[in-house]
Amino acid sequence: MFTRKSIGVALLVVLSAGFAQAAGPGLGQPIATSDIAAWDTSIMPDGSGLPAGRGTAAQGAQIFAGKCVACHGENGVGGSASALTAKGPITSINGGEKTIGNFWPYASTLFDFIRRAMPWQQPKSLTNDEVYALTAYLLALNKVIDDNTALDAATLAKIKMPNRDGFIIRFPDRI
Ligand code: HEC
Repeated sequence: MFTRKSIGVALLVVLSAGFAQAAGPGLGQPIATSDIAAWDTSIMPDGSGLPAGRGTAAQGAQIFAGKCVACHGENGVGGSASALTAKGPITSINGGEKTIGNFWPYASTLFDFIRRAMPWQQPKSLTNDEVYALTAYLLALNKVIDDNTALDAATLAKIKMPNRDGFIIRFPDRI
């Protein structure tokens, strides 16, 4: 049976449990900035976050032949995975037509995506120089840059992708 006293004790237990939770469970330890660095790899559309490094399309072609061609095919087409070059402008909503040259609005996203996700079976295994080289190779294949442009943080940030203005910004005031 509940007495006034037992209800009071129960309330005290509930309140002190709540207080203990608010103070935190006392587990774990503060994380060091150097430990976060390996995961803090996001690159913004304006290129902020791009690391030091440099690569050319010619270097990228060699890396592509070793680490990417098995899934993406020669020259980035005809493999089991997504095509990496556009045949022309997008003509339908069909996802298969959307590729780097005719769809991706920012070159920085290409660097970010390759660095964090490719090769598919070994993500985060490429050096920054390799990622710059692969980005240069794929952008040259898509005729966004010429074969001789070397990419680094400064040159990559300046690239204007063909479909840069093809997106409608839903909330422009929040940019
Ligand atoms: C084992 C197969 C495999 C290998 C090897 C591989 N990829 Fe991929 N790649 C994929 C798959 C699967 C996707 C689609 C992933 C998705 O949609 O989430 C993809 C997607 C991509 C995309 C995005 C294409 C788009 O427009 O959506 C790029 C860019 C890319 N890969 C680059 C590379 C590069 C560069 C390499 C070599 C370093 C590489 N991939 C190696 C399987 C692979």
